[in-house]
Amino acid sequence: MIFKIKTKSISKIEKYNKNSAKIIFCKSNTEFQNFVNEHKIDVNKVRKESFKKDNGAELQIWTNKNPDLYIIKKLKDKKSLNVDFFRDYLAGKIKDLEKSGISSIYINVPKHSYFASLIESELYFYQTFVEGVLLGNYNFDLYKSDKKEPQKLQVFFLSQNSKLFTKAIKDAESVINGVYFSRDLVNEPAITLTPTEYERRVRARFKDKKVAVKVFNKKELAKRKMNAILSVGKASVHSPRLIIAHYKPSGKAKRKIALVGKGVTYDTGGLSIKPTSGMLEMKADMAGSATVFGIVEVAANLNLPIEIIGIVPAVENAISGNAYKPGDVVSTASGKTIEVKDTDAEGRIVLADALEYASKQKPDEIIDFATLTGACVVALGEMAAGVFTKNDKMANNIVKASEETFERAWRLPFWDEYNKLIESKIADVSNLGPRWGGAITAGKFLEHFVDENIPWTHIDLAGPALQHNLTNYTKDYCTGFGVRLITKYLERIN
Ligand code: BES
Ligand code: ZN
Ligand code: ZN
Repeated sequence: MIFKIKTKSISKIEKYNKNSAKIIFCKSNTEFQNFVNEHKIDVNKVRKESFKKDNGAELQIWTNKNPDLYIIKKLKDKKSLNVDFFRDYLAGKIKDLEKSGISSIYINVPKHSYFASLIESELYFYQTFVEGVLLGNYNFDLYKSDKKEPQKLQVFFLSQNSKLFTKAIKDAESVINGVYFSRDLVNEPAITLTPTEYERRVRARFKDKKVAVKVFNKKELAKRKMNAILSVGKASVHSPRLIIAHYKPSGKAKRKIALVGKGVTYDTGGLSIKPTSGMLEMKADMAGSATVFGIVEVAANLNLPIEIIGIVPAVENAISGNAYKPGDVVSTASGKTIEVKDTDAEGRIVLADALEYASKQKPDEIIDFATLTGACVVALGEMAAGVFTKNDKMANNIVKASEETFERAWRLPFWDEYNKLIESKIADVSNLGPRWGGAITAGKFLEHFVDENIPWTHIDLAGPALQHNLTNYTKDYCTGFGVRLITKYLERIN
């Protein structure tokens, strides 16, 4: 983290702390002028006029009294704002303050009523402010030798409803702690985050929570005929694991959901080796699995009334004389066989055993998360995950949650005709389709291993799980995508 942050909801400001900044949002020039007059703020004429002309402008004014710094942000008209505005803006501000010497910020939270058409719930409207502050405060400096002890930063939220805001702070912290867990796992290099280390971290994290962790090692995987996972992991000196994190709420669960995540701790491509440029980001090829554990953590933090079984094949796709090969036929726990045409399409292979295991748990529904294909990023860009399912209700609810959380997800076709493209002459299914529609055929491959009576959705997050420049809170590190999205989806289940 950048700062050691303490958040507080307040209903009025008695006295400003020293070294403080105040953030104000204005909807119009009149509001701005009134504010400046009322607080007797001395603003340079040129800067004032340019601020007034510019829609969405920001003005920073340093003073010789308290607060030391005013940050005045003019809001664009409502049509140009979105649900992410305050989250994204505040995430950016926290980063900006790093070297400012400011140790307290006071945020004037605008009235919810004006934004109600954008975010219906007052509580969630407030939560986006806190999420922005916390997400902006994330960094990953574990391996920097010159890192300093984080400075203290007190963040005061001045709102109309300080009691409700206190609840928003608590909820945001519960959610963002899960996002942090997920991001720390994804950002960790593969040299440290081996399948064994992954197991250790998951056990440590859930030790004091209502989450039971069970792990299958190589021997247990062999006993269970999980040869898909074993084959992909064969070349690595770090043997694979299946990590299962089971959260049971204290009361009666409304539903039992299995969450499955691709946990490839490093993807060299195997013998179908990737070029260096394509390999560089592949420590993040376990992002789907980190999303699963992030969600399990949030569910436990919030005591959500949903039973969750998180199922993660943790495996390194390495290269050695013992590597699985293009042309191999691999058997799976389900009994179905896979023709390996490309060892770089390994995610779908390990997920085959994991989805079969998930189906056997007889959940009410299954969602899997995977950095599965570059093709999905080509289709949707870096901001959105691809949603593949035959279940309209799941698709609609996931897309709805994505609109609310701004973790964007977009449904793509899932037509059965595409099954033809992954037929194999020597096995039950091939792990490679043609170039076109690669994200869809990858999903169709997974479908072979899911019980058709269980509603199931596949989410390909190869784009949004990795660092990208489209928001202030995703631009520096892997993002923890999907934790906020699915938390919202789970909260909406009735
Ligand atoms: N891990 C990759 C997919 C990926 C690509 C994730 C870019 C994040 C960013 C996956 O295992 C892979 O290599 N997929 C191949 C599939 C192909 C061989 C059918 C791809 O996308 O090219
Ligand atoms: Zn691959
Ligand atoms: Zn991969």
